Amino acid sequence: MNKALVLTGANGNVGAYLAHKLNSQNIKLVLIIHRKQDRLNDLLNSENVRIIKADLTKLEDLKTKLKETFKETGWIPEKLIHTATERNHDIKSLIDTDPDLWTYIIKMNIIGTYNILKCLIPHFRKHHSGKIVLFGSNVSRIGLPKGSAYAASKAAIANIGRTLAIEEADNNIIINTVSPGPIKIDDSQFSESYRKFREEYYNEKLREIPLKRCASFEDIYGVCRFLLSDENSYITGEEFFITGGKI
Ligand SMILES: NC(=O)c1ccc[n+]([C@@H]2O[C@H](COP(=O)([O-])OP(=O)(O)OC[C@H]3O[C@@H](n4cnc5c(N)ncnc54)[C@H](OP(=O)(O)O)[C@@H]3O)[C@@H](O)[C@H]2O)c1
Repeated sequence: MNKALVLTGANGNVGAYLAHKLNSQNIKLVLIIHRKQDRLNDLLNSENVRIIKADLTKLEDLKTKLKETFKETGWIPEKLIHTATERNHDIKSLIDTDPDLWTYIIKMNIIGTYNILKCLIPHFRKHHSGKIVLFGSNVSRIGLPKGSAYAASKAAIANIGRTLAIEEADNNIIINTVSPGPIKIDDSQFSESYRKFREEYYNEKLREIPLKRCASFEDIYGVCRFLLSDENSYITGEEFFITGGKI
C-alpha cells in the first residue's frame, strides 16, 4: 500500500498530536513543517514518515518539495489534513491593526490553503480518489473581536471547502472543514501578549460551553478519522463545529 496522508502544520499543537496518532497506525505520512520540528523528533527515523520544511505561502517551492518526496518514496498522496495556520496577531480592532500583519495572516491562511490544494488535487484527480480535512474555527460563525484577519480567513477556508466539494465531486474527492472552539493546547510557544489574550478569551468562552470544557486532541482526531475513513463516502462540503454544544 503506497497511499499516503499529507499533514500541514505537523509541528503544531494539533498537528503533532495527529502525526503521532496516525504514525501509530502505520499510515504513510508526509509531514509539512514550517520553522520548528521539536515535537516530531521521535518520528524522524520512522520509515513511514517524510518531513518537508516548507512555507505554504510559496507555491513553487512547496510543489517541488512535494513532487520530490512522492518521487523518492513512490507514495501516492490520497489524503490531506490541513492544520497550518498563522494566528499570532497584534490583538487590535480592525481599524487599529497593522495593515501588513493583517495582509500576512490573510495570505498565509487563505493563499496557504489555496497552495496546498493546488499542489495535491492534481494527484488526487489522477488517481480518482482524495479525502481532505481543512481546519477552520468556530470564529467563522461567531467572529473574533481583535482577531478580524484570523476570523475572516477561517470563514474563507470553510467556503473554499464548500466550493471544492462541488468542483471536485466528479473526481471522487471529498472535502470537509472541521471548526473547533477552544482546544486544550500547550501555548508556551506563543508570545506573552497572545497567551494572555487567549487565556482571557478562553476563560470567558468556557463559561458559555454547555459541556464545560475545551475540546481535547482526541475529540478533534475522532472527527478527522471519520471524515477521512471509508465509512465517509457521502458527506462533503460541510463544516463541522467541535464546540461542546456552543453555537
Ligand atoms: N488551538 C485552538 O484552540 C484552536 C481553536 C480553533 C481552531 N483551531 C485551528 O486548528 C488548527 C490547529 O491549531 P493549533 O493549535 O495546532 O495551531 P498551532 O499550534 O499554532 O500550529 C500551527 C502550525 O502552522 C505552522 N505554520 C505557520 N505558518 C506557516 C507557513 N507559512 N507555512 C507552513 N506552516 C506554517 C506553524 O509552524 P511554525 O510554528 O514552525 O511557524 C505551526 O506548526 C489551526 O488551523 C487553528 O486555526 C485551533
